[in-house]
Amino acid sequence: MKATLKYLAGSEGPSGYGSSTTAHQVAQNCFCSNTSNSHHLTAIITGATSGIGAETARVLAKNGVRLVIPARDLRKAEELKERIKRESPEAEIIALEMDLSSFASLQRFCSDFLSLGLPLHILINNAGKYSHKLEFSEDKIELTFATNYLGHFLLTEMLVEKMVETAAESGIEGRIVNVSSVIHTWVKRKNFSFTKLLIPKSYNGTYAYAQSKLANILHAKELTTQLKARKANVSINAVHPGIIKTGIIRDYRGFITDSLYFVGSKLLKSTPQGAATTCYVALSSQIAGVSGKYFADCNETHCSALANDEAEARNLWKQTRAFIQRRLLQPAVGTNQNYT
Ligand SMILES: NC(=O)c1ccc[n+]([C@@H]2O[C@H](COP(=O)([O-])OP(=O)(O)OC[C@H]3O[C@@H](n4cnc5c(N)ncnc54)[C@H](OP(=O)(O)O)[C@@H]3O)[C@@H](O)[C@H]2O)c1
Repeated sequence: MKATLKYLAGSEGPSGYGSSTTAHQVAQNCFCSNTSNSHHLTAIITGATSGIGAETARVLAKNGVRLVIPARDLRKAEELKERIKRESPEAEIIALEMDLSSFASLQRFCSDFLSLGLPLHILINNAGKYSHKLEFSEDKIELTFATNYLGHFLLTEMLVEKMVETAAESGIEGRIVNVSSVIHTWVKRKNFSFTKLLIPKSYNGTYAYAQSKLANILHAKELTTQLKARKANVSINAVHPGIIKTGIIRDYRGFITDSLYFVGSKLLKSTPQGAATTCYVALSSQIAGVSGKYFADCNETHCSALANDEAEARNLWKQTRAFIQRRLLQPAVGTNQNYT
């Protein structure tokens, strides 16, 4: 109750920000207080063609960050680039093709990006998919899990060395942000099984989405352990952006959803507010060295006990890594794959 009132009032937490803070306010404060110059920063933002990602891209570009925008539809990425350039003519934006749900496409994107020879300071794993019906990726994996979790896992794996190298050369901490959701708290331990996530026996779109968002937090937790063990100057945290009316519910648009959004409109954030926590975690010097944590309304907060379980995080990471390695060596051809 107290938390809801605080949220509705937009009260500030220990960081000095709250639910009503916008991405623009966060970025301005960060770039004013940081000694590092934003013009030295390069960021990759997935899912920047719409919603929270588009606002995150707009704000970072306005503050001089060089952007690399991977998109499955390059036309949309070019439109975003034009919109940003109208507001910030100096912005440096590179659009490259990438479908997060395809291992082959992710490999092509990373190879294209790495061949540019650019540094990489910030990776924002923001893209998200919600599907009310069961669909499969070209790699024959349930599409929500393939997009929201496996795609971002592989992308991070292929870029993390570049980030470690950039951080060592520049002395600027690398930041990875996994955009998760409070809905991860819905997942029960007994239902969370890697093999069932790949090919569910029965499908519930909301639950599949919640599981993928739990996996995003566990990913941040385990990668933190690994990065700390090698003393790499790169952090990875997860965020809940708030509830924002964006394209994520495009499958559900209609009278009922629109009515629910109208009734609950006091609890909704605007898109500029929805991008604030991502920008805070990507930029703020207040959380230098903080890694493996979960943030909402620009403040560190509690995730579920399952999301906070280090053994679960390690186990998921091992299973994911082994599965992806097998798949990259032996791509899926039929529908009857062995997932054990
Ligand atoms: N909105 C909310 O209330 C809310 C709440 C909690 C968490 N989140 C999280 O916030 C993040 C951003 O969501 P949003 O609300 O801004 O949704 P959105 O407006 O639907 O944006 C989703 C973005 O992801 C991209 N995407 C989807 N599938 C992709 C794929 N296979 N390959 C590459 N890109 C793909 C979309 O690209 P296209 O333009 O090509 O479709 C789009 O740019 C998501 O991770 C979501 O789970 C949102």
